[in-house]
Amino acid sequence: MSKKSQAKALSFVFTLLASCQNPKPMKEVIVDRPDVHSYAELSQIHHLNLDLIVDFEKNIIEGSATYDILPNGADHITLDIQGPEIDQITVDDQEVEYRLGEQDPILGQALRIPIHSDSKKISVHYKTQSDAAALQWLSPMQTSGKKHPFMFSQGEAILTRTWIPIQDSPGIRFTYEATLHVPAELMAVMSATNVQTKNTNGIYHFTMPQPVPAYLIAIAVGDLSFKILGPRTGVYAEPSVLEKAANEFVDTEHMITAAENLYGPYAWDRYDLLVLPPSFPFGGMENPRLTFVTPTVIAGDRSLVSLIAHELAHSWSGNYVTNSNWNDFWINEGFTTYFERRIMESLYGRDYSEMLASLALQEWKDLVLEMGDTSKDTYLHLDLIHRNPDDGMTNIAYEKGSFLLRMLEEKIGRERFDVFLKNYFAAHAFQSMDSEKLIEYMNTHLPLDSLQIDLASWIYRPGIPADTPIPASDRFNKVEAAFVKMNSTGIYDTKLTKDWSSHEWIHFISLLPEDASVQLLKNLDLAFKFTTSGNCEILDIWFEKAIKSGYSKEILDKIEAFLVQIGRRKYIMPLYKAFKTTGQIETARKIYAQARPNYHSVSVNSVDLLLKE
Ligand code: BES
Ligand code: ZN
Repeated sequence: MSKKSQAKALSFVFTLLASCQNPKPMKEVIVDRPDVHSYAELSQIHHLNLDLIVDFEKNIIEGSATYDILPNGADHITLDIQGPEIDQITVDDQEVEYRLGEQDPILGQALRIPIHSDSKKISVHYKTQSDAAALQWLSPMQTSGKKHPFMFSQGEAILTRTWIPIQDSPGIRFTYEATLHVPAELMAVMSATNVQTKNTNGIYHFTMPQPVPAYLIAIAVGDLSFKILGPRTGVYAEPSVLEKAANEFVDTEHMITAAENLYGPYAWDRYDLLVLPPSFPFGGMENPRLTFVTPTVIAGDRSLVSLIAHELAHSWSGNYVTNSNWNDFWINEGFTTYFERRIMESLYGRDYSEMLASLALQEWKDLVLEMGDTSKDTYLHLDLIHRNPDDGMTNIAYEKGSFLLRMLEEKIGRERFDVFLKNYFAAHAFQSMDSEKLIEYMNTHLPLDSLQIDLASWIYRPGIPADTPIPASDRFNKVEAAFVKMNSTGIYDTKLTKDWSSHEWIHFISLLPEDASVQLLKNLDLAFKFTTSGNCEILDIWFEKAIKSGYSKEILDKIEAFLVQIGRRKYIMPLYKAFKTTGQIETARKIYAQARPNYHSVSVNSVDLLLKE
């Protein structure tokens, strides 16, 4: 469906509006919305000011959101809202009658507020629901320190509306500031300017002077401490995690330098990291100035820090130049994944980044196999109308996207392509981008025709394009040779493996066939101790193989502990899936019953769906 007809299909008639104080139905207005996942019709907010109390007794946030608006000639402004209970709305300090649209299970409701051509300020006084999907409230027992509660938000893709009434579209940007009132023993941080020490009154002020879309507003409150990493970088974590975290992330400052050398100045002043409790549903989230990361990235040997390179890269691709809507999610993630590997290459060398690219190509191929190579979800440009954007956000966007850029780099030449990317970022700073606009820009600035590059078929066609580059990894060739040798001799020669990084081990485990025997896995475990690895990537792929082979029955307590403790969706989904596909759904359900209270709603929704009757 073309973009136009999609917008048309979403045209909606505003008649059946539940009115708050005035029951008469609203005048019919037919609206074409630019983003199928937001009720906002046009960008009308230029600054947001939050004044909120974070209440750990009731697990709610309560207070006001005040918006400086640009009326743009409209007689109303439409916000997205899903859940928050509104106490009062004022426009320039006068209370007004507002309207709420019908409740949509994915989008929530349209909140329409009447304005005049000279209206300046709207205030919404509200409180969130205790089960707001963006927020996770953790009891002290669910934290590392066990003494204090913790709360964090996850906004991407369309969850910010569950804790702030807002124009929640990635194509709408505004600056923000906030005052948070939190329990005095806790510290509050946001995707904004942050202090580095806890204060005594529990009141924290934040500013975000660069315009950002709503999905990048983030908050976390807990027993946090801070450690400096470099002049622009540092890490926030619970005190018991802080030292390990700081040691793991020592290279963060170098990553910024490498990224700037590639694609131009870092636009966000500071770059800090926040290590969350293990229930954090993602590996990382690129909240501006303060990347949120899972503690599972702390392997002790810095082997998983490509995740930091990834989230940092979003400071250009995603946060600086942003996908206009979620159908073009690949413009955030594909560019970022390409950029991530370039940062890794500059820091750790080509043989290292080629391992990451090889693993990624394999994952992409496996996923296309699983989805079917005619599936529209294997396009780069997605069609997520009437769907939860979360459902379409797969590895395709990351890897088909990153390999598209790599193909361009190889055909055009690295030097020229790097200049192109640097200019691309500068030319679209703080703006949004979609597939159509990108193709046009690339056509103008790159010799696509003379090189016979068919961008459109990468973006609007399924499967794996014929001109997909193939990474070359010598280190993986050695792993494959060792695997064959061990398989034929039955001798697990640790001389062959002594210099292996976790990536080599992951590749090694991935070579195990689907029908590997319990005995083989048992022998490998004896020799290489995978089940007790401190590296979550290794654990995850190993446990998946164990479940598929039946070896899981001997290490079920370990798999269970992993699933109960860790809520990162990328890790837990393959394990529950493996139980399900091998006729062990009851085992999965039993473990999940115990694990579910520890998971964030993002993970809960995915696992609920997988394990439902
Ligand atoms: N922006 C994403 C996380 C995200 C994606 C949140 C879709 C909500 C919807 C983040 O940058 C990301 O890609 N995280 C990855 C890690 C990365 C190294 C591939 C993750 O969480 O696994
Ligand atoms: Zn990302």
